[in-house]
Amino acid sequence: MQKILIKNIKGLVQVGENIPVIRKGKEMQELPILENAFLALEDNEVIAYGLMEDWEGITDWRDLEIVDAEGRYVLPAFCDSHTHTVFAKTREEEFVDKINGLSYEEIAAKGGGILNSARKLAEISENDLFNLAQTRIDKMIACGTGAIEIKSGYGLSVDAEIKMLRVIKRLKESNKIVIKATFLGAHAFPVEYKDNHKGYIDLIINDMLPIIERENLADYIDVFCERNYFSVEEMINILEEGKKHGLIPKVHVNQFSVMGAVSKAIELGALSVDHLENLGDEDLVALQNSNCIPTLLPGCSHFLGIPFGDARRLINANLSVALASDFNPGSTPNYNLFTIWSLACIKLKMTPEEAFNSLTINAAYAMGLSETHGKICLGSKTPLIMTKQIPSLAYLPYSFGELNVERIFI
Ligand code: NIG
Ligand code: FE
Repeated sequence: MQKILIKNIKGLVQVGENIPVIRKGKEMQELPILENAFLALEDNEVIAYGLMEDWEGITDWRDLEIVDAEGRYVLPAFCDSHTHTVFAKTREEEFVDKINGLSYEEIAAKGGGILNSARKLAEISENDLFNLAQTRIDKMIACGTGAIEIKSGYGLSVDAEIKMLRVIKRLKESNKIVIKATFLGAHAFPVEYKDNHKGYIDLIINDMLPIIERENLADYIDVFCERNYFSVEEMINILEEGKKHGLIPKVHVNQFSVMGAVSKAIELGALSVDHLENLGDEDLVALQNSNCIPTLLPGCSHFLGIPFGDARRLINANLSVALASDFNPGSTPNYNLFTIWSLACIKLKMTPEEAFNSLTINAAYAMGLSETHGKICLGSKTPLIMTKQIPSLAYLPYSFGELNVERIFI
């Protein structure tokens, strides 16, 4: 058995036996911190924690690794509830196009964007795809990410979508952190189906979904509902069929336009609605009457130069907010959730505490991990971050771009 005692912790964050499943509205300010604390782990399970003055006699000293965390914080690792971590190639040439004045939609129209990634993905072997994704996951973990949702959606053919999902399944099996898989066959229409939407949707429904169920390849189903992508009616059709195969909806909506997709996704039982750079009053009401969590992706807004989701409006409406990276080669080539924490504070005007709740318990909710992730409590095996020596918790989002992780416990 591996036993670790972390002592002299400057602040043990998001700790306690009554941490709620989510925090919303004003509660998002709440963040329990035990100052000058210890934490005892056995095979990474929390077996005791408390104030340093109470620590004597709590553990058996044999074979114990003692970690001195003087001046350092210990936090539950982040949950990244929205990523596109499996892809064949980065797309920095589009980045340059964008600097030269083309919009995301113009780049997509000239064969860039999602279709560009799909062409690259069709050519790569499953093994190479797996190895590339594993390298990225190792880097994500080193930045404090302790659970990852990963979408397909760069395949856009039966073979390539299934190849992506098999890679995600292998990643689930070979990583110590929890990975959730989302089927996003409805990410874009392949060129050959540009004028035959029904043909591609039939492929998703009749060919992809049965294999996904049979091989147990996904937990969630996603649709990119947007003009020039999938309409609200097409989204409804695909989500309904996905549900018949046991997949829970979790969707891309309101990135560029308000189309009424939020309330429809909620009616279909969506666990989360993601992006929301644009939000109508009717969307807000639909969210207030639901258990669906709005998820904002400020890395995408920052990189594309599009509006940021309005976290304050959501919080003022007594809603909960989750934050995720949206890590992908097109709109967000960044997986570091410390960067997202900073952007949330700087651009979304969230306090450090609100944003940390959005990246831990609220994000855990958005990927079905409320029981096990995002908080430090007895019996928990949630991955943990130990920071470097820092002056205060707010220093973490304040020092944007600096990586203050000293050690990860998984
Ligand atoms: O979440 N919005 C749709 N999908 C991705 C971007 C995909 C891409 O450009 O490759 C996103 O931002
Ligand atoms: Fe996305």
